[in-house]
Amino acid sequence: MRSYWWKKAVIYEIYCKSFYDTDGDGLGDLNGVYEKLPHLAELGINCIWFTPIYVSPQFDNGYDVADYSDIEPTYGGMTAFKRVLDRAHELGIKVVMDMVLNHSSDKNKWFQESRKSKDNPYRNYYYWREGNDGKEPNNWANYFKTGNCSAWNYDETTGEYYLGLYGQFMPDLNWECKELREDVYRMMRSWLDLGVDGFRLDVITKLKKPAGLPDSTDIEWANGYHYFSCDCQEGLHEIIHDIAKNTWLLPQYDAFGLGEASGIRPDNGIDYLLPENEELDILYHFQIVNRAIAPCKPDYYKQVQKGWTDLLPKGICVTQHLDNHDQPRLISRFGNDSEEYRKKSGKMLAMMTHMMPGTVFVYQGEEIGMINSYHDTIDEYNDRYTVGNYNDGLRKGLSAEEAIKALWEVSRDNARRPMPWNGGKNGGFTEGTPWLALDKHYETINLEKDKESVDSMFKFYQKLIGMRKKYDSMTEGDIEYYAFEDKQIVAFKRECKTDILFFVGNWSNEKVKFTLPPELKWHTFEVVLSNFKDANYKTITREMEPWDAAIYKLKLN
Ligand code: GLC
Repeated sequence: MRSYWWKKAVIYEIYCKSFYDTDGDGLGDLNGVYEKLPHLAELGINCIWFTPIYVSPQFDNGYDVADYSDIEPTYGGMTAFKRVLDRAHELGIKVVMDMVLNHSSDKNKWFQESRKSKDNPYRNYYYWREGNDGKEPNNWANYFKTGNCSAWNYDETTGEYYLGLYGQFMPDLNWECKELREDVYRMMRSWLDLGVDGFRLDVITKLKKPAGLPDSTDIEWANGYHYFSCDCQEGLHEIIHDIAKNTWLLPQYDAFGLGEASGIRPDNGIDYLLPENEELDILYHFQIVNRAIAPCKPDYYKQVQKGWTDLLPKGICVTQHLDNHDQPRLISRFGNDSEEYRKKSGKMLAMMTHMMPGTVFVYQGEEIGMINSYHDTIDEYNDRYTVGNYNDGLRKGLSAEEAIKALWEVSRDNARRPMPWNGGKNGGFTEGTPWLALDKHYETINLEKDKESVDSMFKFYQKLIGMRKKYDSMTEGDIEYYAFEDKQIVAFKRECKTDILFFVGNWSNEKVKFTLPPELKWHTFEVVLSNFKDANYKTITREMEPWDAAIYKLKLN
């Protein structure tokens, strides 16, 4: 039976490799997660999402899966995982796995078999094609810009090319193949049977490839090859429905399917979410975080949120997140990471996010207000996009310094640097040599120091997460926006039968005047949470300092 527990959840994303190392090899591990479960319980989250922790050569830090049925030995293997799973459940924390179904690693047994001969039983698990006059079958580029940047890779054994939208080490799986589907469903059910509570489905909108795999007419991406998003091709609904009904929708489970959904907007997204279609429970869309480097402005943010809330039937979920393992840190990107405003802007953005309708995500380190960290040499980076684009920059004539600086703000490593638990050696992350250089700010921005400070981010997140359990309006209330056209203020009300909350925040570095909407004038405003002193409402119009924000409980006079 489905209890829809995720509708009220706050999900904490763990990038295991960078979380906490207990055996001194410089890599985070599952025993480390086990030891830090009290931290998560104290924070108040009720679900963990693990980015992939399966056996993997780690070309893309686990998103290249070599064995979907087993846990990476350097993380502690299956024994360590079961220990975490059981303890998390005892603490009332659910556990969600990342399922990478668009591609596997080239080290996966399926692919190893597939490349052996044209009549191998696994051949059709992947996309194999003959060359086109001695060239690749089409002009698609790979996103990571690896090798010669094509999405096709020539394999000498059989003299054909295989498709890898993420490069030669991550061959794309062929969802037209019935046997592949059955193998995948068996494997996913085995995780559910073990007790996991759902799946985050990696790049789910790319599973369907267009018939005939035509050339892309999109921009030239690198080295003469063209970008091809492959998002939301016709026939994708059938695949997602088939996965859902063979796995998490089976009546014996109470699990969800969350789709990482690039290319999704409200108009093309709603069909994936309608319960009668039996597809996804939650959509993780990118309308806000995928704005490349251009900062997302408050008016755009409001339009996107309203776009979803106007269209979605009540109780249907999108996610609320500003941080994840693929994005620069939220404060550096959407807020202000100066010493003066780091915490204040972080709190403003956190209040706004947690007050929005949908399932909220917190990414490790967000709860202590981590910010971007810029490093001078490519050796201090690992992310495939960063390395690929760096090499592309050099190919195009940039100097090493120019190539690296161009990537500072966008590198996914901004989010992947080890979690600093304290200000000591390696931020308390490892006794060994960390697999990736620590964030440069770890001596000042770390959990221990944060908790001791009067304006602790951790304690603020704790309150905010606690509020979701207390105020139903935060999770199920209707939403009404105010000052919708305003370019700095975000203000809205959430209302349900039991309570009414009102959020107002100044999303800017300037002072701004905000006048209470007339219809709210007859209410009393009780401050529930704020990031500035004297948040009480004494006048109809108030001058808000940069990043001032507060949540009020409203009562009719
Ligand atoms: C998703 C993951 C990202 C990964 C990519 C390929 O976008 O979040 O980290 O590199 O898929 O699997």
